[in-house]
Amino acid sequence: MVLGSRIAGTGSYAPAKVLTNAELERLVDTSDAWISERTGIKERRIAAPEECTSDLALRASRAALEAASLDARELDMIVMGTITPDRQLPACAAYLQQKLGVSGIPAFDISAACAGFVYAMSIGDQFIRTGAARNVLVVGAELLSRVTNWMDRNTCVLFGDGAGAVVLTPATEGSGRVLSSKLHTDATLTESLCIPAGGSREPLTHAGLDERRNTVQMVGNDIFRIAVKNLSSASRSALDAAGLTPEDVDWLVPHQANLRIIAQVSTRLGIPLERFVVNIDRYGNTSSASIPIALDEAVRDGRVKSGQTVLMCALGAGISWASALVRL
Ligand code: COA
Repeated sequence: MVLGSRIAGTGSYAPAKVLTNAELERLVDTSDAWISERTGIKERRIAAPEECTSDLALRASRAALEAASLDARELDMIVMGTITPDRQLPACAAYLQQKLGVSGIPAFDISAACAGFVYAMSIGDQFIRTGAARNVLVVGAELLSRVTNWMDRNTCVLFGDGAGAVVLTPATEGSGRVLSSKLHTDATLTESLCIPAGGSREPLTHAGLDERRNTVQMVGNDIFRIAVKNLSSASRSALDAAGLTPEDVDWLVPHQANLRIIAQVSTRLGIPLERFVVNIDRYGNTSSASIPIALDEAVRDGRVKSGQTVLMCALGAGISWASALVRL
């Protein structure tokens, strides 16, 4: 009998170039003090001009496969959360699959913005639960610097580039496993966080390009309020579904959008901030990549250990939000 899936390995990659708040002060009317106090971000990574999203995903995937002692040819499926694919068509996961040197297995993208990784992991878990797949590569990869308006201080200070991945394999008696996952979408705030042009609703025109309507636009306050509320409730739902309470959680790995959001979720859940994995100061908001990067760092530096219980929660454009509870 299949007991569900477990995380057999994690990996991540962040581009070498660091962009500090001090450097942003030279681009837009902002300050290190404002960015640090309002968001918790000190620096972020920016991909090299020759790098594309599947390159970042490849580095993270190879590290996750190595940690899982699995060859890419043993994979049954690749699911990638991304809103910044290599091209609008085809799926970024197809390019990743090619770079991994495999073919024939399903490889597809999930568009759930910052919740993309948790969505992708939940999908991978369901395929393994039903026996339809054994080994699933789950990736969150973003190159947000290419869809950022570098003249808009409201958004350009927030985002960064990076990728993270996990390999899911069948759980066995006594092994870790994905205990529960909850996925949600509510379209009431679609216009508060979007890339307006470039799709069927508003094809990109010269005028649209001049107005940078092909970049991320956000009403930050709308998103902030809903993030605190929904991240807290989704976390509670994942705990309820597994019959656990906040006291049972060893680590919470939240989406890294704003340190103040994370702090308020900590208060609402009654889980102290010391039990949160936070790296927003070094990477900013890397959308779907933020949770798997933070998880991988915490696994590799020994904070998150085998047998511990980890809660993940994320919210982004859509509004889409999700949570997952995992025993490592
Ligand atoms: N530097 C300096 N001032 C800035 C600034 C910057 N980078 N960005 C905005 N400001 C200014 C605003 O223009 C505004 O000035 P005004 O009062 O003169 O109009 C003032 O700071 C306050 O703006 P406000 O938007 O209320 O700030 P905030 O405290 O809400 O912080 C965000 C803004 C974006 C950091 C915050 O709303 C946020 O994190 N939202 C959620 C983001 C998120 O989760 N996004 C993606 C989901 S994945």
